[in-house]
Formats: sequence, C-alpha cells, structure tokens
Amino acid sequence: MNQATITADISPAQQVERLTRQLEEAQRNNAATRIQLEQALGRAEAVQRERDRAVSTIRKLHKETFFDLARRAEERDGESPLHTARIGAYSGLIAASLGCTATWCALLENAAQLHDIGKIGIHDSILSKTGPLTTEEWRLMREHPRIGAAIIGQSDEPLLQLAGEIAMTHHEHYNGAGYPLGLSGREIPLSGRIVGIADFFDALTHDRSYRKALPVDTVLSMIRERIGEQFDPHVVGAFLRVADQIKATRQRFVEQERLFQATAGWDGDWWMLA
Ligand SMILES: [Fe+2]
Ligand SMILES: [Fe+2]
Repeated sequence: MNQATITADISPAQQVERLTRQLEEAQRNNAATRIQLEQALGRAEAVQRERDRAVSTIRKLHKETFFDLARRAEERDGESPLHTARIGAYSGLIAASLGCTATWCALLENAAQLHDIGKIGIHDSILSKTGPLTTEEWRLMREHPRIGAAIIGQSDEPLLQLAGEIAMTHHEHYNGAGYPLGLSGREIPLSGRIVGIADFFDALTHDRSYRKALPVDTVLSMIRERIGEQFDPHVVGAFLRVADQIKATRQRFVEQERLFQATAGWDGDWWMLA
C-alpha cells in the first residue's frame, strides 16, 4: 500500500511507525523506478548512437559510390584514374587564391572530382572513338553535364549539391558559347567557372589516346588567350597567381602515376597509393 493512511484504532506511535514504513517503501520504489528509467534512457542513447553510426556509414558509402562511378566514367573516356583527383586539387588551389573560405575550398576540392560523372551515361562507342565524332555523337556527348547533374543533383548533401552544380556548368563559357545551357558571365556559378579552367589545364597537359600532352607553359598561354571568352578574367587571375603551386601539384601527380604504373600487380585500389 503506497498511500499513507492514518486510522483511529492504533496509537500515535504505531501511526508514526506505519507512516515511516510507508515512506521508506515509497522511497525504495522511487529509487527502483529511477534506475529503470536511467537504464531505459541508456538503451535509447545506445540505439541512437547505433542509428547515427549506420546513417553516417550509409552516407559515406553513398558518396564513395559516386566517387568510384566518376573515376570509372573518366577511365572509360581514356582518362587516368588520377584525373579526378587532379581536377579537385587544382580547383581547391584556385578557390583559395580567390579568397574563398577554407571550408568551401575543401568542399569544392571534393565536389570537383565528380564533374564528369555524367559520362557514365555516354555509350562506349562514343567515349572510346579514336576518330572525330559525328554531329550526332557530339550532341550525345554534350549531354553528359545534364546526365551528371541528374545523377547527383537531387541530394540534400552539400557536397553532392555542389557537385551537381559543377557537373551541370563546367562546360559553360564566360562569353555564353559553352554548353549545355549557354550561360554567360556571373550566371555561371563560381564552382563551374573554376572547374572549367582546372579541367582545361588538366586535359591539355596530359596525354590522350589521340594526342600528346602540350607543355605546361603553352597551356598557360592558351588560358590567357581565352580570358573573357572561355574563361572568367578573375578566375584566370587567381589561377595564374597560384600557377607555380598548380605546376608542383601536377608534378606530384605525375610521380604518383609512375608509382601506380610500376605497381601494376597492386591488388588494392589506386587511390591508396596517392
Ligand atoms: Fe565534362
Ligand atoms: Fe574530366
């Protein structure tokens, strides 16, 4: 009986004793209830931690799948597996030179690596064609920005949202002559203007199946010649200010690639060597 009761047929001393017993019992019950509540709370917190861990693992796998897909897409187009990492590194350096925050530079460095993920939707007969593309093949090839944005742009993850923006706009030109939307000037998101230059520099300073790499300084001159046409003058300025760092980064990747090729029997993933 938990409720304290006082009856007239017992002495005051007995009543005090009875009330004391009832009070002690109530305190014991309260203590037991508190312990049960604390145990339940502990279990709920453990479940929550487990859930948070599972969600973060799924998010990580989700992102890794996209990065893997982007590398495969570039490889199908004859690019080195290091191409995506190089574009990310150059883009991060340009953004830092523009005075962007360290957080955004790091986000851009990752997101830029997914710029050509849409090539996964382009047929092998077009990607691996050694001769010039027909008009229809070019039309299909120029769909890769839209395909890429459709693949990754629906996410609520800031990294994937930025990656979707880059996928869509990295072939736009400052003068409006690019594709797929024909945006011009500041209509092109800064991310797309940065990655467009990084992609141009990287594409021309590395061998492709149909042509040899151009000397780095020749490519720098070509970038200067395209100021205000293909490229944003401010972004080119930022690129040129860190040109030495970009050249050094490129050289580091060249050495990593040599190491990669020298370890052809490597059974892990190439990026573990990087
Ligand atoms: Fe592209
Ligand atoms: Fe690319």
